This record gives sequence, C-alpha cells and structure tokens, in this order.
Amino acid sequence: MGKYNFDEEINRYNTNSLKYDILRGRPKGILPLWVADYDFKAPSFLLDELKKRVDHGIFGYSEPTDSYFTALKGWYKRRYDVDIDTNKVILTCGVVFSICQLIRSVTKENDYIIINEPVYYPFKASIIANDRLCISSDLKRIEDKYYFDFNDFEEKIKKHNVKAYILCNPHNPVGRCWKKEELEKVFEICKRYNVFVISDEIHGDIVFNGNKFISAHKLLKKNFAVTSSLSKPFNIPGLQAAHTYINEKEIYEKFLKELDRVGYSQLPTLGLVASEILFNKGDEYLEELKEYLWSNINFVKEYISKNLPKLKVIDIEATYLVWIDFSAYNLSDKELKDIITHKCNLWLDDGLIFGKSGSKYQRINIATTKKMLEKALDNLYNVFKNL
Ligand SMILES: Cc1ncc(COP(=O)(O)O)c(C=O)c1O
Repeated sequence: MGKYNFDEEINRYNTNSLKYDILRGRPKGILPLWVADYDFKAPSFLLDELKKRVDHGIFGYSEPTDSYFTALKGWYKRRYDVDIDTNKVILTCGVVFSICQLIRSVTKENDYIIINEPVYYPFKASIIANDRLCISSDLKRIEDKYYFDFNDFEEKIKKHNVKAYILCNPHNPVGRCWKKEELEKVFEICKRYNVFVISDEIHGDIVFNGNKFISAHKLLKKNFAVTSSLSKPFNIPGLQAAHTYINEKEIYEKFLKELDRVGYSQLPTLGLVASEILFNKGDEYLEELKEYLWSNINFVKEYISKNLPKLKVIDIEATYLVWIDFSAYNLSDKELKDIITHKCNLWLDDGLIFGKSGSKYQRINIATTKKMLEKALDNLYNVFKNL
C-alpha cells in the first residue's frame, strides 16, 4: 500500500465537471470514461498550499516570480534531462490556447499544417479555426502498434508546401512514446523542408514500462516550440497553467503580439501556486500514480483478452488513454456509438473524432478507480458478449 489512496471513490457530480455533469443529451447515470481528466484526489501537500492561498483571501492579478521558473527548470532537468532556457518560456492558460497562438505566429492564412491522425482532435480544430489548412499524414498500424509513415509524411510536406507540424509526443490516442530514431527521422524531414515543429508534450510525464520520453528539446536546435503543462499528470486543467518554450526570438515576439491581440496577460493565481509546488514536489506522487495507472492498463488488457477477444487493445507505452479496435464486430460508427452509449451506458470517446483513421475505434480513459473501471468493462462485456 503506497502513500496515496487511488481507490478512494469521490462523488464528482454537481461540481461543474465537464466529465460528469455536462451530459448534452446523454442518459443520466452514464459512466464517463472519456475526456482526459482523472478521478483521483489531489495530494495533500498541494491542497495545503492552495488552502493557504485561499485563506489569505485576496485574489488579485498574479505574476510568476523567479522561484516559479527555477521550479520549472528543475522539473525539466530532473525528469527529461533538459536544461531549459526559461527566458524563452511564456506562460498561458492552456496548451491548446498556446497551439493557436503558435499557429498564428508561425504561419499565414491558407498555409498547410501537418498532423498525424488519429490524433488529439483540437489540433485540426485549431488549424481550421485559425483559417489554415490541415493535412494529415496518418499513422500506420502494424499489428497492435502505430508508426509514422515517413514517405507519406515527406510527400505531403512537399506537395502542400507545409509550413508547420504539430507533433503529439507521447501520442494521444494511440499511446506511443516516440523513440529517438523515429523523432530524428521526422525532424530531419521537417528540417529539409523548413517546417516549424510545434511539439505538444503534455503527456510526457505519463510513460510506462521502461519507455523513455524524449523531448523535442533534446533533438532540435532550430525552428521549434514545445508546449506543455502539469494538467495531465496532476489533473489540474481547471487551474489553467501551461508553459510554452519558443526557440526562435522572432516567433517568441510574434507570440507575445498574438497574446496582446487576444487581450491575454495573467494566469489564474491558483494555477501558478499549484504548478510551482508540483514542479518542486510532485515526483513521488507521480511515480505512485503511474503504478496505479499501469495496473489499470494491465487490468483492461487482461479483462478484454479473457472476455472479449474480438476487441484489440492497442499496445500502450504512455498516457492513460487506451485505444481499442472494435472493427471485428462489423458495426458502423453510428451503431457502435449508440450501443456504447445506450446499451453499455458508457461515455467513451468515438475513434472517428480523432480523424477518419479512427473509424471503429473507441478511446477509454482508464484513470479512474479499479472499481469504476471494472464496472465499465462489465457493462461492455454484458452487451458485446451477445453480438
Ligand atoms: C495532446 C493534448 N494536448 C493538449 C491537451 C489539453 O491541454 P489544455 O487543457 O492545456 O489546453 C490535451 C488534453 O487531453 C491533450 O491530450
């Protein structure tokens, strides 16, 4: 038994929770294992600091001090072996927000930006919302794992005169923690065609089973930005604190201008307090959390291989999002969604939202108590055993 109790069940209803409360027509009581938001209570060392700040009682505009950047620097050094130059870091309210600013800083209207579908759907949405064009070099599935298609990636960059690339490392939803050799190859192609790399590394701390996360910082010297946040490893997206490193001075300046254009300046006070304390003290909690998540992943794999062998669980190296292939059931995407929602009483993410290549897949967020996970799998089993 570790220091933290990840089996504790906490009622999250009526807490303004996107995951639990915002049903948008789904049946009441549906089990939510969709958005990347976990069900474990924050550690007490974090809650104590937040309570102290709340008890202080004043919530004026807040700015990070040197101690914030020292803490961030320490995290990068300890966890990724990166000496980050914090003079090139800009704080914002979120990673997707930063990606949007980067898109406008790096490209012009109607420029092409390349992504690797199936991928976190706000990449494409952000490209389109900013009047740029999106092209995907889809990942290739070989057996139970996904890989880059280097030839296709290069061809598409050439053909569409692509200006920027949004990399997801580790990759949501296919769970890859990209290897050094794979990253070197895609970065080499980007270099050859002068494509700016935007590396989303928000899942970089949730890596399992001897896999090693390699930040773009380790491999790139020019033409890149890295955006990340502690909101996935510590489930604090509601506190809205993210950091973005921008290597090129000119892009850094443009990014600041974009922030002025949208009128954004200070981060939420509690986001600053939380990130600083977690950068300094979060390691031990994170290691225990990962053990719990890894045992949940193995639980899902074993349950499915024993009870639902027609489903294929894609091999997972990172993230707490498990990607499952339902194609053996020969259902349309709509039928699959209806059955999962209305018969299994489960709220998962439809594969199709991650791109066409996500058709007939579902993404399950396993970052919940074992009890809830078992209930969800039983719901799946009770319906799919008869199909
Ligand atoms: C790859 C990836 N990037 C960004 C985000 C969201 O980050 P933020 O809430 O800081 O915009 C998520 C959330 O699941 C994600 O999976």
